Amino acid sequence: MSFLPPNYHPLFSRGEIAQRILTLGAQITQSYKGKPLTVLVVLKGSYVFAADLVRAIELPINVEFIGLRSYGDRMTTSGVVEITMDVKHPLMGEHVLIVEDIVDTGLTLDYLIKNLRTRNPASLALAALLHKPSRTKVEVPIDYLGFEVPDKFVIGYGLDFAGKYRNLPEIGYLDPPPDMA
Ligand code: IMP
Repeated sequence: MSFLPPNYHPLFSRGEIAQRILTLGAQITQSYKGKPLTVLVVLKGSYVFAADLVRAIELPINVEFIGLRSYGDRMTTSGVVEITMDVKHPLMGEHVLIVEDIVDTGLTLDYLIKNLRTRNPASLALAALLHKPSRTKVEVPIDYLGFEVPDKFVIGYGLDFAGKYRNLPEIGYLDPPPDMA
């Protein structure tokens, strides 16, 4: 793709992503049959994944959005997280499925899960497109996982570098990694 930098390397094609999401959608459909499900999309990185995932779920779901900002850069994720845009209605008594782009250190999701638990949902589960197990600082249980990735800076399919490349229809990584300073 012409707008990609020379240090870009492909990881997962459009077809591989589509196939995996169909499988995840079928699993979620099976798990939540007969239960009212709220899909909670974490902005911004998850919007592309969520758009495809919700269309693979064959249930009458409700979709909500939450905006988070993690302080620090990639190498020094601080665990300090700010909710920049909160859910517009209470989640009490609902079955909530968080949709996240990537679990890296786990600090952001750990914060979000603890915060959401105080709102007393009927259940709380996590669908993550990517997981970088080698970077884990806090274990976060992932109920529906797309792919494991190596310790590389990944972009595309919603994931950005400095705000760019979210519109790349596949997933790849930058090597040598970008200068995060
Ligand atoms: P955490 O380290 O698990 O708290 O991840 C925090 C956030 O950093 C994720 O939700 C992503 O938005 C972002 N992030 C982590 N690793 C990458 C990456 O390789 N590419 C793009 N964004 C990333």
